[in-house]
Amino acid sequence: MKNTVMTLQKMKENHEKAVMVTAYDYTTAKIMDESGVNMILVGDSLGMTMLGYEDTLSVTMEDMIHHSAAVARGTKEAFLVTDMPFMSYQTSVYDAVVNAGRLMKEGRANAVKLEGGSEFVPHVKAIVNASIPVVGHIGLTPQSVNAFGGFKVQGKDEEAAKKLIADAKALEAAGACMIVMECVPAKLAKLITEELSIPTIGIGAGRDCDAQVLVYQDLLAMYGGFRPKFVKVFANVGEQMREGMKSYIEETKSGAFPAEQHCFQIEDSVIEKLY
Ligand code: KIV
Repeated sequence: MKNTVMTLQKMKENHEKAVMVTAYDYTTAKIMDESGVNMILVGDSLGMTMLGYEDTLSVTMEDMIHHSAAVARGTKEAFLVTDMPFMSYQTSVYDAVVNAGRLMKEGRANAVKLEGGSEFVPHVKAIVNASIPVVGHIGLTPQSVNAFGGFKVQGKDEEAAKKLIADAKALEAAGACMIVMECVPAKLAKLITEELSIPTIGIGAGRDCDAQVLVYQDLLAMYGGFRPKFVKVFANVGEQMREGMKSYIEETKSGAFPAEQHCFQIEDSVIEKLY
């Protein structure tokens, strides 16, 4: 059954947890979709995971459309959310609607996600008015890494916590259908989840959010280097890939691969005529 804004809303009402994971290409999307996740996110994290940038700032609309369209072709049942990249909506309400429309038309997303709180209420309202579902994203918003001065937990003091609550409520009132909370203290994320009628999706925001999201290279240990505190490794796929590649190289060099069963045959009588 296709996951929709309505089915995901029902899940919140029934206290049933939903699961979201990132994907950036057809093959991975197909695996994620067939595994039964409720939502797939084409995150602008693809800047790091797929394109090798050090942050998300260089990601373009063209990058997002290219990857979103590939993921859409591999997705049947999951609800597909695609990120609006840096400077595709911050510049004006008009840009926000035009670019959200492109992610739906060309990227075949089911919803768009944008980072930021109350300051983007006009943008969210305008996109929603164009019949495009919007997922908000508050807390640690990686497109603002330079303004934040690094990747840090958000909402820890009273003022910052009150601002996050106000942001979440403002986004809901503007028509957002869900809100991602990233790196928010668990008790604050619980309070916000209880205050909102729309589902919350946590990443580093504790277990009381209505859904969880992780970057797939993190949960499958495919991405080296820094691993955030909130990541749990569920399978060592990176290690398995390295092992597989080692065997492929060894067997190719030794001549064990390709074996008889990997080769196409021809009658000896035909070959003899060629010498
Ligand atoms: O870009 C991304 O993958 C995200 C998640 C971390 C929520 O926004």
